[in-house]
Amino acid sequence: MRVLILNGSPRPKGHTKQMIQAFCEGLEEAGHEWDVFDVCKMNIHGCLACEYCHTKGNGQCIQEDDMQNIYQKLSEAGMLVIASPIYYHNMSGQLKCAIDRFYAAAYPVKPPKLKKVAMFLSSGEPDMYDGALFSYQGDFLDFLKLEGMGVFTTKGYDPGLSEEKREELQAFGASLKH
Ligand SMILES: Cc1cc2nc3c(=O)[nH]c(=O)nc-3n(C[C@H](O)[C@H](O)[C@H](O)COP(=O)(O)O)c2cc1C
Repeated sequence: MRVLILNGSPRPKGHTKQMIQAFCEGLEEAGHEWDVFDVCKMNIHGCLACEYCHTKGNGQCIQEDDMQNIYQKLSEAGMLVIASPIYYHNMSGQLKCAIDRFYAAAYPVKPPKLKKVAMFLSSGEPDMYDGALFSYQGDFLDFLKLEGMGVFTTKGYDPGLSEEKREELQAFGASLKH
């Protein structure tokens, strides 16, 4: 299976990135392929709501920025991972811009190969996930009808991911079926 991972953290060694790295070790063990996009390093603009994609564009977004690379991988992916720090009770703004741009490629119907989704969240304080989970449930499970494979969270300002959490993410990656 090909997995598309969107990393919404700007911190190259932050918790979100460490969760992704552990997960990818598991994916490798199980023989999966994946693409990680660090959306904070990319030039991704917000959706213009111009409706070009749903009219003349026939599913193509009119904006020629780095989102085009994500659209390509989104069409190949069987699973999507939305990974983000919690900023003001939700996913990061950089990642939200990328998700809003799914409007061209995953609205009103999902890309045909995409079947599964998971979410990785990192927060400073515990139980700060409701905003991001509202999007996960409403947009990805209920609306796109993707199979939810799990939500993984970590909390605290210490930059190190616990060994227990690292193992949990690695085991999750290794457990995924082809
Ligand atoms: C702009 C900003 C807003 C934040 N808002 C919250 C918040 O609402 N709740 C919370 O628990 N932590 C909040 N935090 C803390 C981060 O979620 C926390 O440090 C997280 O571990 C960062 O993830 P990372 O290491 O993957 O970058 C915020 C941090 C920043 C920079």
